[in-house]
Amino acid sequence: MVTSEYTAQPELLKPGVKAPVKETLLTPRFYITDFDAVASMDLSANDEELKAIVAELKADYNRHHFVRDDNFQQSWKNLDKQKRLVFVDFLERSCTSEFSGFLLFKELSRKLKDRNPLLAEAFSYMARDEARHAGFLNKAMADFSLSLDLNFLTKNRTYTFFPPEWIIYTVYLSEKIGYWRYILMYRHLEKHPELQFYPLFRYFDSWCQDENRHGDFFDALLRSQPELWDNWKARLWVRFFLLTVFVTHTLTVIERGDFYYAIGIDPFEYNTKVIKKTNETAAKAFPVILDTNHPEFFGRVMKCSDSNLKMAAMANSKCPKFVKMFRRIPHFIAILWQMLRLFLIPPVDAEILRSEVR
Ligand SMILES: [Fe+2]
Ligand SMILES: [Fe+2]
Repeated sequence: MVTSEYTAQPELLKPGVKAPVKETLLTPRFYITDFDAVASMDLSANDEELKAIVAELKADYNRHHFVRDDNFQQSWKNLDKQKRLVFVDFLERSCTSEFSGFLLFKELSRKLKDRNPLLAEAFSYMARDEARHAGFLNKAMADFSLSLDLNFLTKNRTYTFFPPEWIIYTVYLSEKIGYWRYILMYRHLEKHPELQFYPLFRYFDSWCQDENRHGDFFDALLRSQPELWDNWKARLWVRFFLLTVFVTHTLTVIERGDFYYAIGIDPFEYNTKVIKKTNETAAKAFPVILDTNHPEFFGRVMKCSDSNLKMAAMANSKCPKFVKMFRRIPHFIAILWQMLRLFLIPPVDAEILRSEVR
């Protein structure tokens, strides 16, 4: 993993344009990969399924979905200040992560165009969807007199290099976790329309079907490469990525719990449900999944979150920088220790689960 320093220069931004949040371990990242290695992937082991999913992506079921209806034609000036603050933060993070998907898919489709036309086509449809998602969220931010300068973000954001296999594991998981995040929020607000303080949430049902299809594509891609699931190394990597995605999700949701409370969602319950559902879904693609029913599982995940909250509180204190850094070390070690203990919990064999279902 190659990560360079944060380089955004907010003073270069136009007035009215929001400066990106400071990059931390929990902010959505931007990725690049080994495009030659992706181009030379042999897809023949799962060709039929991949073609079927590309046909689904081509059908573009949501082409008329992302149109702002009359419910957006009003002023949001009277929205409670605290609610506004946490909501704009949610919009910004979501927009950044949708846009990060767009950039990666766009670049993959451009680089593979002449060398792997099936993958290039799939990535171009997925880039189309993510651009719509990011654009829709950016328009929502504009309702609060803010917007993200996506050009600025493209040029000034740090890019992280992931080899293709890591991209396949992490993007698969981020699409599927995205699906569960959106659909659970949608179902909750469908039952409690009085809590929908802004019309965006009503779009999440069809929206999350895009993420689901993207996830299905990565599922088929992963299964077309036996080395990504049919050996002991793949089993270890899968456990590692499931764990890091679930812990990162927990830290982010709990640290930003106020947003979830604002729409009547208990962030602890929501986080547990999102993790359990994503883990169950991953049994379709991965050789192993995590044992989220293990009595220690969520206790240890929450200990990571407690340490993260302590570090976040420290970051806001007035101590000198080096003192803060020094005081953060034991909490950081505590997170790593809990993650190691979580990693050592015996996983569930998804290949056996799959053959039982059959
Ligand atoms: Fe998306
Ligand atoms: Fe997506």
